[in-house]
Amino acid sequence: MSFVSLKTLMFWFLVTAHVIRVDTSRLRRRVNLTEEDEDRAPSGEDAVYVKLKSGPKTSGLEPGDTAVTFKVHTLDGEFVYPAEGLRGSLIIHAFTNKSGFLECLWGSESSLADLVHLPESAQVLFVSLDDSAVDDALWMREQVHRAVMHRKKEVLSRLHFSPVPVFALGNWIPSVLYSWGCTGHNCGLSQAAFTCEGWSMPVIVKRLDARYDWLMGRWAQRSYELIDAGDGCKPSFSVAGAVAWVSEGTCSFFTKVQNMAKSNASGVLVYAFPGNPIQDMNCIGDECFTPLSLPAAMVHLEPSVSQALRFGQQVNVSFQSTPSPNFFVGIDQQGALAEVGWFLYPTFSFINWQAQWFHFYHGLQTRLQTAAQVVCVFDKVLMQGDKGAVATVELPIGMLDFDTLELDTSLSCPGSRDSTCAHWDHTVQLFVCCDYLGPYCNVELGRWITAFRRGIGHWLTDVSPLIPLLNNNKCTFTMKTVPWAMPWMVSLNLRFSSSNQTGDPVEKLYPFQVTSLYSGGTFDKNYNMKYQPIKFSVPASTKKVELYAVITGHGSDENGCGEFCVTSHHFLINSIFNHTRIFDSAGTALGCTLRVKEGAVPNEHGTWLYGRGGWCDGLQVNPWRTDITRQLDMTGYESNMLVYFGLYDGRDPSPAQEPGYIIMSSFLVFYK
Ligand SMILES: *[C@@H]1O[C@H](CO)[C@@H](O)[C@H](O)[C@H]1NC(C)=O
Ligand SMILES: *[C@@H]1O[C@H](CO)[C@@H](O)[C@H](O)[C@H]1NC(C)=O
Ligand SMILES: *[C@@H]1O[C@H](CO)[C@@H](O)[C@H](O)[C@H]1NC(C)=O
Ligand SMILES: *[C@@H]1O[C@H](CO)[C@@H](O)[C@H](O)[C@H]1NC(C)=O
Ligand SMILES: *[C@@H]1O[C@H](CO)[C@@H](O)[C@H](O)[C@H]1NC(C)=O
Ligand SMILES: *[C@@H]1O[C@H](CO)[C@@H](O)[C@H](O)[C@H]1NC(C)=O
Repeated sequence: MSFVSLKTLMFWFLVTAHVIRVDTSRLRRRVNLTEEDEDRAPSGEDAVYVKLKSGPKTSGLEPGDTAVTFKVHTLDGEFVYPAEGLRGSLIIHAFTNKSGFLECLWGSESSLADLVHLPESAQVLFVSLDDSAVDDALWMREQVHRAVMHRKKEVLSRLHFSPVPVFALGNWIPSVLYSWGCTGHNCGLSQAAFTCEGWSMPVIVKRLDARYDWLMGRWAQRSYELIDAGDGCKPSFSVAGAVAWVSEGTCSFFTKVQNMAKSNASGVLVYAFPGNPIQDMNCIGDECFTPLSLPAAMVHLEPSVSQALRFGQQVNVSFQSTPSPNFFVGIDQQGALAEVGWFLYPTFSFINWQAQWFHFYHGLQTRLQTAAQVVCVFDKVLMQGDKGAVATVELPIGMLDFDTLELDTSLSCPGSRDSTCAHWDHTVQLFVCCDYLGPYCNVELGRWITAFRRGIGHWLTDVSPLIPLLNNNKCTFTMKTVPWAMPWMVSLNLRFSSSNQTGDPVEKLYPFQVTSLYSGGTFDKNYNMKYQPIKFSVPASTKKVELYAVITGHGSDENGCGEFCVTSHHFLINSIFNHTRIFDSAGTALGCTLRVKEGAVPNEHGTWLYGRGGWCDGLQVNPWRTDITRQLDMTGYESNMLVYFGLYDGRDPSPAQEPGYIIMSSFLVFYK
C-alpha cells in the first residue's frame, strides 16, 4: 500500500552524547518476516481478517487464559508456579541450539548482561527443547553466572534452570510452546543449505541474518553459487552474482559486506572460526551512514564446505526456515498466559521489556481498582473503516463536581493471538460531540498510536482539563484511525473522579471553560505562516489558566520529519514567555523502549524501538500541560496574547520533498 513506501532505504546513526540517533527517511515500517515465512500470503488486509475470524478452532490454552499451577525440576530443586506469597510475572524460555538466533542470544556478552536488569517483579524459567537438556541447563546457568558475576547477584534467585527437556515436562508448557508456534525474528530455525556435486546429501547449518535494520537485502528463494572470498577485507572479483564465503575477523562486518557489495556479490555468508559463537552482524557508528542492499548472515565454519571450495568444487547455497515451537511464553502478574512478541535481534532486553510491561499492566490494574464513576463507551467494539467506532452515552449527573477524567482505553485484536492484529502503526483519535450545534462538536479528546501487530495495549490517560467539553448529559464518541487500517477491537471507559488533593478542599480547582487554540498541518516552509496571534481575556473568577496541547509529528521528508526528526513547538505568551515542547528523542535508536514502563507495548512486529516525534507505537499520546496563570493579565480587562510556531532544528521547516505533518490540538483551560 502507498503508505509503505519502502524506496530509498537510507538510514544512519548520529552519535550525540550517548544518544544513538537513527535518522532516516523511512523508518516507520513494520519489520518484514524472512523471505520463507508465511508473510507473503495476505493479499489484502480484509482478507486476513476474514481468514483469522474463521480460522481453525484450537481447544488448547490461549493468551489471556489462566496459567494452571505447575512444578518443574530445576538444577536447584524445584520451581513451583505460582510461588507462595509473592506473585510476579514469569517468562518461560525454551532453548534450542538448533537456532542461530538463540545461540547468539546466549553467547553475546551484551545480551547476557541485559538479564541483570530483569525487573524485580519478574522471574524466568529456562528449559531446553533438546535431548541435551541437562547440559544445556548447566551451560545456560554458567553463562548467566558469568555475566552476573560482579553485578546484581539478587537476580540469580529469580532465574530457574530446568534440566528436564520440554518434551518430558508433562504439563501444559509443551502444548502452549508448540501450538503458539510463531514466525519472525525469534522463532523458526533459519538455515543455510549447501549442496555440492560429490555429496550424497545437502549440509544444513543454522544461520543468523544480519541485524534487521542494517541490511535491507533479503535472501531469495533460489540456489546461489558460493565463492570463497577470504576474509572479505578487500574486494574480490570472483564473487559477482554469487554468495561470498567470508571468514570472521580482521575487519568489521560492515567492511566485509561493503567489499562484497562492491564486488557485485549477491549475498555474504560470514563464518565463525571453530569454537566461536555466531554473532549479531551489525554496523557501528558512522558505518551505518552507508546504505547496503544485499543480504548477509553468519554461520559456523562448515569444514566440508571449505574443503570443497578449496578443491575447486562448485558449492551452492540456498536459504530456508524451518518452523519451530515458540521459544518464549509469558505469564503476567495476574496469572494470565501471554505472548511475548518479537525479539527483533538477539538480546535479553526483549525479555526485560516484556517483564516491564507486565509490571506496568499490574500497576494499571491496581489503578483501575480505585473509586471512580465509570461510563462505558465501547466494550470490545470493532473499529474499522471511515466510520470507526461510534457510541452515544449518557454522562453522570453533576459532571462539574468531578475534577478528574481519565480515559481507560484498550486496543485488542479480532482473535486472541497477536497474529490476528493489524500489521501497521496508525494514529487513533477519539472525538467527542456533546452539542451538535456548538463550536466544540467533534473535538479531539484523546490520541493513541496502534502497535505493530500486538493486541495488549491498555492505557489510562488523564484528560481532566477537557471536562468542560462534556457539557451535556448525552455525548457521542467516535474513535477512529485511517479507513484502510486492519480492524482493532476497542474498549473505552470514561473514569470520573475527584482527586484527593491534600490540604484545604476549598482550594480544589475545577476546569470550567476551554478555548480551542491551534491545530497542526503540513510541516513545510509555510507551516508557521498560517498562525496568527490569538487575543483573549481571562473570564471573571478564574483562578488558574493552563495551556494544554497534544502534538505529534508524522510523515517523512528528507530529514525524517516529522516522525523521526527533532521538532520543537513554541507557545509564546504576551511576547515574553516562551513555552517549548521539544521532541528530542525522535529518531533515537531506543527512544521508545524507555517508555515501556509507561505502557508502550513492547516487542512489536515492527520498528517500535525508535524514538518518534511526540509519540511511540502502542502508546497513548500524553497531553502536555503548562500552568501559565502568572504570565497572564488576570483582571479580565486587558487582553492577553498567545502565538504558536513549530520549528525543525530551530528554524522554519523547509523540506525539499514530501513534507511531513503535525497533528495538534491545543487549548486554553480555565479553572475556578
Ligand atoms: C517487505 O515485504 C514487502 C511485501 O512482501 C516487499 O514489497 C518489500 O520489498 C519488503 N521489504 C523489505 C525491506 O524486505
Ligand atoms: C551450540 O552449537 C555450536 C555449533 O553448532 C557449538 O559450537 C556450541 O558448543 C553449542 N552450544 C551448546 C551449549 O551446545
Ligand atoms: C548449482 O547451481 C547451478 C545453477 O544455479 C546448477 O547448474 C548446478 O547443478 C548446481 N549444483 C549443485 C551441486 O547443486
Ligand atoms: C559490478 O557491476 C558493475 C555494473 O554492472 C560493473 O561496472 C563493475 O565493474 C562490477 N564490479 C565488479 C568488481 O565486478
Ligand atoms: C480521600 O482520602 C481520605 C484519607 O486519605 C480517605 O479516607 C477518603 O476515602 C479519600 N476519598 C476518596 C474519594 O478517595
Ligand atoms: C523560544 O524558545 C526557542 C527555544 O528555546 C527559541 O528557539 C525561540 O527563538 C524562542 N522564541 C522567542 C520569541 O523567544
